Order: sequence, then C-alpha cells, then structure tokens
Amino acid sequence: MKLPFPLAAHALLAALEERGYRFVTPTPATHARVIARRDQARDLRDALGWSLPFSATTIDPEIVDLLRGADLLEARGDMLVSNVRVSSLGNHLLLHSAYPTTARDAVFFGPDSYRFAGFLEAELPKLSRREHLVDFGAGSGVGAIVAAKHADGVSLLDINPNALRLARANALHAEISFRISGAERWRFLNAGALQAVEGAIDCIIANPPYIADPAHRAYRDGGGMHGGELSMAWAREAAARLQRGGAFLLYTGSAIIGGEDKLKAALFEALEGFDVAYREIDPDVFGEELERQDYADVDRIAVVGLVAVKR
Ligand SMILES: C[S@@+](CC[C@H](N)C(=O)[O-])C[C@H]1O[C@@H](n2cnc3c(N)ncnc32)[C@H](O)[C@@H]1O
Repeated sequence: MKLPFPLAAHALLAALEERGYRFVTPTPATHARVIARRDQARDLRDALGWSLPFSATTIDPEIVDLLRGADLLEARGDMLVSNVRVSSLGNHLLLHSAYPTTARDAVFFGPDSYRFAGFLEAELPKLSRREHLVDFGAGSGVGAIVAAKHADGVSLLDINPNALRLARANALHAEISFRISGAERWRFLNAGALQAVEGAIDCIIANPPYIADPAHRAYRDGGGMHGGELSMAWAREAAARLQRGGAFLLYTGSAIIGGEDKLKAALFEALEGFDVAYREIDPDVFGEELERQDYADVDRIAVVGLVAVKR
C-alpha cells in the first residue's frame, strides 16, 4: 500500500538518520564549483546533497526504494536523479528542492536558512513562551521547526504549495524524531498574507525573499527597493496584526547605498509603537548581484535581524 507523502518522506528521513546522513547546503555558487568536479554520484551525499545523477546500484537499495515510494525519483537517461535534496541542520534533516533551484516553485533552503535558524535560536529564548507563532514565508519549514519548542501552536504560511508539501513532511519528521511539545498544533496555510491566519497571533517570524530577482522566483524575489519591498509589506502586516506584547522577528537583507541602510529607517517607521532591536548579522552577502545594472548604486547587501515587540 502506498503511504501518504509526509509518511513516505518521514520513512526516508528516518532511514537517512539511521545511516548518520549529514549534508550542509552551501550557496549555489559553491554548489556549482563542487559538482563541476564529477558528473555522477559516488554515495548518498552526492545523490541527495549534491543532486548528482546516480545508478540504482551505487546507492543503498533501501534508500532507492524509499525515494521511489515517495515519488522523489526521476530518470535521466539510464541514470536516476532525486528531485529533492536532504540537508541537515544540527540533528534535523530537511527536504528541499534539488539543485539547481531554477523552477519558479523551487523550495528554498540554504545558508540564509542556517543564519535564520541561528537568529531564532538566539532571540526566541529571550521572549516569553508564545501561544501562536506564525512562520511567514515558511519554505521548507525550517524556522517553524526551530521555533516550535517556544510555542503552543505554529502556523506555516507560504504562497508555494510545493513548499508546504515539503514543510509538512519535514515538520512530521521533526515531531516524530524530536517529540517537539505542542507540535500537534501545526497548521499549513497556502496563502500570501496574515489575513489567512485565524485567531490571535503573538509571534511572527519571517525570512522573506530579499533580492530583486529578474526571474521573479517566489523564494528569491523581494520586489522593489532592491528587494526590500516584501520585507516592508510583511512588517506593516505584522504591525497591524500583533497585539500588545506580540513579537515580530525578521531576518532579511538590506541593500546598503552610500553607506546608508534605508530599509532600517523604513522598518523603524513602519513599526512605530514597538520596541525595536536591529543588528547586522552578516555585512556582505550575494556580492555577485552587485554586477547587475539594477544594483549599480549598491555598496553591499547586508543580512539584518530585527526583533520588534509591541508596547
Ligand atoms: C527566502 S525563502 C525562506 C524560506 C524559509 N523560511 C527559510 O528560511 O529557509 C522565502 C519564502 O517566502 C515565500 N513567499 C514569497 N512571497 C510570499 C508571500 N507573499 N506570502 C507568503 N510566502 C511568500 C516563498 O515561497 C519562500 O518559501
């Protein structure tokens, strides 16, 4: 009998865990450099981390069966290829899209997800326990999974149904493997605004797209203001929705122009009535974007973290 996708995916992740599988996803540029060294997989990490094609005899047959059972395999000539990657974050294993993530509905997970998780792990313990936390733009669900132990209920919101499909599997796996308390209250919402979330919300976490992406990929395109537009829109939504004591934790990128952080000023204005802490987490990411004409006036893209609590 065929298992529903989240259970089939959980069985795969559990089998990988048993085998001690680990893979840390690097930037796409690093990924491209590494896979240029070989054209087919030698082991599980090559197949499920580096997204290299493999022959069914190279890889553990139980893993091939589990991939097949979860409909995660495609044929490429006489080889097989996995249409997901499996990455590790500490002890967690998460599914996300295979490399290269060129499809418009690709499910993002990368160095930003690691930094976002680190930001949440540093900031959430400083707040009181939350009743209902929303991960806005949840992607693979990494933020929600890291935050779940600090909340009674967690809602994951994303416009990409493919992201929610993988997030559901990742959350189920995290729940079974780590017995995250309160995790029976996961909700998955295919929507692009907080309006879709019912009931009171007392924490919103977000790692929105923050690059001006000419290909308009949902996981990457932050719109105008050199990609800052979506961060602003989400901050305004959070400001309108949160009640006293409600917290907004935003991890995003800011294009620094002439030494000035215009996004910072705009965020502080949008979050009037909140106590706001803001810091640079990384002074310089995605430097290659600066070669593009629409970034001609930008000095650098900084990754920033904002914690805003409504007074
Ligand atoms: C940079 S990815 C971050 C994913 C995940 N939170 C992480 O840290 O790995 C941004 C996510 O926001 C989603 N997204 C983009 N626009 C959205 C919108 N208007 N409403 C909800 N989600 C959106 C994308 O589909 C994508 O999954």
